Amino acid sequence: MRKVFTWLLAGIVLLFRRLGPRVPPPDGRAEERRPRIVPMGPPSPDAELVVAALFVATGLAAVAFVVVYAVDRIGHQTQFLGLSLGLAFAFLAAAFVVAGRSLVADEEIVEDYPEPHPEAQEDVLQIVDESADRLTRRRLLVLTGLGAGGALGAALVVPAASLGPLLDWDELREVPWRAGRRLVDERGRPLRASEIEEKVFYTAFPEGAPREDVGAPVVVVRLPPAHLKLPPERQGWAPRGILAYSKICTHAGCAISLYRVPLYPPATPTPALVCPCHYSTFDPAAAGAVLFGPAGRPLPQLPLRIDANGILRAAGPFSAGPGPSWWGARAGAQPQ
Ligand code: FES
Repeated sequence: MRKVFTWLLAGIVLLFRRLGPRVPPPDGRAEERRPRIVPMGPPSPDAELVVAALFVATGLAAVAFVVVYAVDRIGHQTQFLGLSLGLAFAFLAAAFVVAGRSLVADEEIVEDYPEPHPEAQEDVLQIVDESADRLTRRRLLVLTGLGAGGALGAALVVPAASLGPLLDWDELREVPWRAGRRLVDERGRPLRASEIEEKVFYTAFPEGAPREDVGAPVVVVRLPPAHLKLPPERQGWAPRGILAYSKICTHAGCAISLYRVPLYPPATPTPALVCPCHYSTFDPAAAGAVLFGPAGRPLPQLPLRIDANGILRAAGPFSAGPGPSWWGARAGAQPQ
């Protein structure tokens, strides 16, 4: 890592020394010129313009990437993101190709490798300086190059925003369930307690809230009340034996989509909610406890109540934060 940083720093210093303005000696003496190492080549103003134009195109493509990333509702957004970033790199590569072919001295000298001497470093710097002597538009190339580099750097850094909120971490713990919110099915129809049958697996959402939230979908099942093994503080969370749990597996966030119901009691022990990804298995009768698999904590339970019209409603928030066991959920943070 340190070596990479050193090389990077050396490259930047050489670039500026090569393309930046010449600084006269501090004592005002005329710059002492050593004999040229690189022969003076003819200037290539057209190639310089092409390189500058390609740098500008690189910057514009990189800015387009940032814009497409920021405007969330663009159709085919992924394709446009790939196109704009790909074009930015293509323009940059083309700029380097043109610069390498037309602007940079590339004379090959075959001779014995010289003994190291103290002026070797000076020679290298002189070669770099002299290679840029034929440039007629240094300032333009520096500005467009810096613009392209800056825009491309921004395009590479901006997607880090997708890793999560920067300052307001509470957003990660927010769930749409509130006491009194009705449970609705995929079509938005409220779930009636009388419609919930045993051995059937239902998916429900909070009425009027975004369904894409990790905390939104719940599974609803019904068990004989006598079979429930809920802790004392959750008595009353499962009216008529109807239970609701977060549908998002606490292992890595897949959707719980299998309901194993015993058909032959001697062979299968108990009803269980199963995640199809790595087969984490949860016991709906025992507060979502893990029976099997890699999940490290129970499924969060949503307390339920039945209103006067027989509709299922949330009686409060989840028992714990829903979703995979990221640090906040593992620490037992309560949803808000
Ligand atoms: S995501 Fe459910 S078991 Fe791995």
